[in-house]
Amino acid sequence: MKNRILLVLFLLSTTFSLRGGEGMWLPQLLKALNEGEMQTMGMKLTAEQIYSVNQGSLKDAIVHFGGFCTSEVISDQGLLLTNHHCGYGQIQSHTSLEKNYIKNGFWAKNLQEELANPGLFARFIVRIDDVTEAMLAGVSDKMGTKERQSQIDKNMAALKVNTKLGAFEELMIRPFYHGNQYFSFTTVTYNDVRLVGAPPEMIGKFGADTDNWEWPRHTGDFALFRIYAGPNNEPAEYNENNKPYNPKHFLPISLDGVEEGDFTLIFGFPGRTNQYLPGVAVKQLVETVNPARIAIRDAALKILDAEMRKDEKTKIQYASKFARIANYWKKWIGENQGLIATNALDKKANLEKEFEAVLNSSLTMKSKYGDILPKFESLYNELEPYVLSRNYYNEIMGRNIEAMRIVGYMRRLISAHEKNGKTGYDKFKERLSGPIESFYKNYNPKIDQQVFSTLTKMYGNADGAKEIAASMQNYLMGNGIRDYEQLAQKVFANSMILDKNKVLQTINQSPEDAIKKIKGDPLFKFASEINSTYQDKIAGRYTEINSEINDLQRRYMEGLIEAFPDKRFWPDANSTMRVTYGKVQGYQPRDGITYNPLTTLDGVIAKYKPGDYEFDVPKKLLQLNALRDYGDYATADGKMPVCFLGSNHTTGGNSGSPAIDANGNLVGLNFDRVWEGTMSDINYDPSICRNIMVDARYILFIIDKYAGAGHLVKEMKLVHPRTDMSGNKSSKKKLNKPVPAKQPGINPKSKRQKAISKDGMPTKEQKVVPYNGGGR
Ligand code: ARG
Ligand code: ASP
Repeated sequence: MKNRILLVLFLLSTTFSLRGGEGMWLPQLLKALNEGEMQTMGMKLTAEQIYSVNQGSLKDAIVHFGGFCTSEVISDQGLLLTNHHCGYGQIQSHTSLEKNYIKNGFWAKNLQEELANPGLFARFIVRIDDVTEAMLAGVSDKMGTKERQSQIDKNMAALKVNTKLGAFEELMIRPFYHGNQYFSFTTVTYNDVRLVGAPPEMIGKFGADTDNWEWPRHTGDFALFRIYAGPNNEPAEYNENNKPYNPKHFLPISLDGVEEGDFTLIFGFPGRTNQYLPGVAVKQLVETVNPARIAIRDAALKILDAEMRKDEKTKIQYASKFARIANYWKKWIGENQGLIATNALDKKANLEKEFEAVLNSSLTMKSKYGDILPKFESLYNELEPYVLSRNYYNEIMGRNIEAMRIVGYMRRLISAHEKNGKTGYDKFKERLSGPIESFYKNYNPKIDQQVFSTLTKMYGNADGAKEIAASMQNYLMGNGIRDYEQLAQKVFANSMILDKNKVLQTINQSPEDAIKKIKGDPLFKFASEINSTYQDKIAGRYTEINSEINDLQRRYMEGLIEAFPDKRFWPDANSTMRVTYGKVQGYQPRDGITYNPLTTLDGVIAKYKPGDYEFDVPKKLLQLNALRDYGDYATADGKMPVCFLGSNHTTGGNSGSPAIDANGNLVGLNFDRVWEGTMSDINYDPSICRNIMVDARYILFIIDKYAGAGHLVKEMKLVHPRTDMSGNKSSKKKLNKPVPAKQPGINPKSKRQKAISKDGMPTKEQKVVPYNGGGR
């Protein structure tokens, strides 16, 4: 059964329609599924040059950045390129009023000046293998959800024990096609990743939230990091003596840019898509879930925005948090509009009708899959109050009231004590010191109090989520509190949680005294009460219904593939390595408007608003532009390219992914999608789904001409594939040797680390990932 899907996909590979765009494909299956189509679209590479286990290939330059973004190696010195918004948390962590790297940018003049980032990791994929058979051994269709899962868990544990790994390698196993297929990923993770350079936010975040998710775009959303390794190029914890990592492969950078219609591929780690949801789920998202979370964030953002405009310190403290909240707030709004505009519900209804027609034509199909759609209907209906409550709880208690983060740490500290006594307590306390420090660096209790009173009120009035709303109202009544403002005042006036020193004093007492103090804290008490209602009445049932839904989704996926043998199905994104490909292409956002896929510095100047917090432009950039001093990086007609659009199917997590040309060179850096197309996570539509990339030439121009960090450009390999292929020697200054189309940037010097004892393995301890500008 399990190999049938693969088989179906193999058969499909010959009958694909050649439209490109949709789909996030597994790199090791490109040969079987996509190579032909990609080459027809203009690609000059072979699948083997993109993914190979035996020799350096493009995949060896692609790096999961901190687990939330993508980055790529662009020099033989481990230089990493990613987005400014991906490195935002790190840039911010090195920023103060005196050394304002967010505002002014940061450029290390040499290796010694590069800045360490505890907790940040860079993860490579060594190989990908199909482990479906081992993972589904002993699993049968007759098993219930729980039984099935426990067999799969057992299989996974056995597989992890039985798989031979090299030094520093780890094995990660993930389900695909909603559990119909499994792949393992052998990974190697580097934990010493340093900040090398970042443009000022007037460039790196130009247009900020107004332009976020929009075209035409003019953001230089990039930053540079570097991977450091131990004496033998092996992963190592931060150490002064670590050396720049020498990669198996790095991406050469094309100076020839792109034109409309050019082939592009995006290589990275897309986070999550839900392309195969039933209509009832999409309806719930559009009508219930998205509106609720949009409204909550709307309220929180209004408060932050007003405070950030009042003073510079608050702006620094809250910029990253604001961007992060605003990001998905705006995305959900676009997603809802797009789902409606592209009639997603009708499309789902039609697909389901066709599915039922197939079932009705075959008794076997009917008996196998006939129960699925009606069950979806009833399960999603049952889920509705729970999923809504869960969103209220997560958004309000889990995210937007900031102090809840400290409450969470305290809760875990107590449970560490319950489990392992004083040793457990001390160990966890030690792990908290960094996170506590960075939390309070950017915390303003006055702002949080406003957020608290506004959002608890929303919680108490949550329509359609009666149980949690009641828990909030009961809290007020039980404590004789008049309204939510008074609640906020009471809690915030007396809680030690708002003050770093008080928290540190508290947890540095004996565990018994500390726990007593924590448990008596008004904010902690409040949170515990709301939390326990949530746990008792919502969380358990939510998980139960949801796991039934997941199981049904697995069967639905299988059924769809079986029912429509000539439709093409790609596995939903799940934070694993994927390739997506398309073309440089504009679109029509609305009737009568056509968007050009390329923007230039002229557009930056046109948007320029002196002194504005989103659209200011640094003086130096204005000067360079006035003199048309673009170095080697201008287009043939003398323009400075800034961003471009493509029809590559991307999602959150693809930020920082390289846009790669037909020959395997980097031409751009993915960072966003267009607003009309943000529903691509649920309902990809080739007419309006576009990804947005920074042009590589703009990145080089900023590093070289703007920042004067030409030493970094010297490290890179700059190539002229277009001029070289047409036989015309470039008139421009000859840079590094261009890369022949057949062997893109393979690094002959690479010496991969072999046998080293496992003792130096990166710890599996939970890393505390700092805020970044993207993410949900
Ligand atoms: N929308 C992009 C992505 O989802 C970029 C976000 C960062 N920029 C911002 N202004 N929040 O994550
Ligand atoms: N900006 C997103 C990211 O950070 C990419 C996207 O959603 O298109 O991953």
